[in-house]
Amino acid sequence: MDYKRIISDLIEEIIGINVYNFIEIPPDKNMGDFAFPCFKLAKELKKSPQIIAEDLKLKISHESIEKVETIGAYLNFFIDKSIFSKSVLNTILKLKDDYGRSNYGEGKTIVIDYSSPNIAKPFHIGHLFTTVVGNSLYRLHKFQGYNVVGINYLGDWGTQFGKLIYAYKRWVNLDELEKSPINELFRIYVKFHNEAENDPSIEDEGRKYFKMLEDGDKECRELWKKFRDLSLLEFEKLYKTLGVKFDSYDGEAFFSDKTDEVVCELEEKSLLSDSLGAKVVRLDEYNMPPCIIKKADGATIYATRDLASLLYRKKTYDFYKNIYVAGTPQALHFKQVFKTIELMGYEWAKDCVHVGFGLVKFKDKKLSTRKGEVILLEDLLNMSVDKIRSVIDEKNPNLLNKDEVSKKVGIGAIVFTYLKMNRERDIIFDFDDVLSFEGETGPYVQYTFARGKSILKKSGINILDIDFEKYLGLLTHENESNLIKVLSDFNNNIKLAISYLESSIITRYVIDISKAFNKFYNSNHILNLEDKDLKIARLILVYATTIVIKNALYLIGIETVDEM
Ligand code: ARG
Repeated sequence: MDYKRIISDLIEEIIGINVYNFIEIPPDKNMGDFAFPCFKLAKELKKSPQIIAEDLKLKISHESIEKVETIGAYLNFFIDKSIFSKSVLNTILKLKDDYGRSNYGEGKTIVIDYSSPNIAKPFHIGHLFTTVVGNSLYRLHKFQGYNVVGINYLGDWGTQFGKLIYAYKRWVNLDELEKSPINELFRIYVKFHNEAENDPSIEDEGRKYFKMLEDGDKECRELWKKFRDLSLLEFEKLYKTLGVKFDSYDGEAFFSDKTDEVVCELEEKSLLSDSLGAKVVRLDEYNMPPCIIKKADGATIYATRDLASLLYRKKTYDFYKNIYVAGTPQALHFKQVFKTIELMGYEWAKDCVHVGFGLVKFKDKKLSTRKGEVILLEDLLNMSVDKIRSVIDEKNPNLLNKDEVSKKVGIGAIVFTYLKMNRERDIIFDFDDVLSFEGETGPYVQYTFARGKSILKKSGINILDIDFEKYLGLLTHENESNLIKVLSDFNNNIKLAISYLESSIITRYVIDISKAFNKFYNSNHILNLEDKDLKIARLILVYATTIVIKNALYLIGIETVDEM
């Protein structure tokens, strides 16, 4: 039941103005469940807000609204709790896994570019950020009926691959390559840079190999493909662990032969200028440095390939929105690319968005560098899983599927941490916080879900077997009403998360459900109730809560466990 809709419809019927977006939820319950600030109408109706409020109060009546009061310019609505509970729980129980789903986005295509790691380099903790944010945005849009295309725009092209070919031919250890491909490729790549400090001439060798690769030299091509395949095998293992999927892996290389067209088009549209031998699109007018299209040696760069891929995406998918989830340091790059597209005369440049995110830092200094290198994601996930495993060993030694549970909870804890705050903020990673079973954490939410499941199991009653309709009106206790109100707000949170492209809205929503549930659970008896009907009603509420937690966690890419 969408009360905002009911209330705005009632008001619209009286005054003929749609006020849906102005309906608020008051901070203090004594001020009602919903409120409408009448000063929003004062100008249009040419009346004082107080008079508008009094007037509306007299005219509004609806079976699901218990009473309407005015406080100054505010119209406060108190809903009928029993009707409300019935309607919310009915919807949740009927829809189950589909509760929260809609077809709001039908007919619109959203392209999301996320994860997009660079091949032959270890997957680091920053790439996890784009991976989990992108995955969540993917699921959120899909859940609302959009057609979604997830693109892993692999960093698989550029002069570094010439260097890597040079390094491979000299220094690769094939045994190591088999054991740990990315590590070995990264080792020889780093070695190249160290050697180049003493002997800069090998840089030219690297460039030479890249040129050969671009020109289609067979051996170079094969090596490049090997680097890509080996890297993908490792990345895919990780994606599987995280439950992340893509519809396309067309990365930079795929566009390497499509940049000429872009250069020609820019030339035709007189957008290119010379700058010390390089070809650039000047953006001074927009307070930006020029967007470099071709370097002095004629090579194209990252931006050129992004322009080519952007034109290709519009042609191929005719997107409604094209989203790039990439670190905030790339903000300028995307601004330049979008501006260039706009200058090329494409009005859909406005449909391209860069979704940035902050840095990941570690509170524990020991974690912040390992042998002076970046932290590997695999190590971070393993550490988390191991720690959860030891908590479970201690708290619930007889649990059957400990491995699976530790994995879901341990990995979920990390994902939860990444998605808890506004994405633009830096994350200060502290394992004690991440893995705590209390406070606003993944394990806390998972534990709440498992607690609900265990109550249901212990009750011996299968909610789906009973005719639940007749019990729903019994839930009128304050803790129950509060919990139901939170559960009813799922769609609203999904809409907000999509409009701000901010998954943390869902993460915080799951925290709110868990808090409301635990308050209810801690102060209202369930299993040992004498009153059988109330017991069933409360079990229904527990069941509904588990449904919403599960659906919400799904939207941020976290799997639940029934027991832990
Ligand atoms: N490969 C890049 C990196 O690791 C991210 C690519 C983002 N997507 C794009 N279309 N530029 O930083």
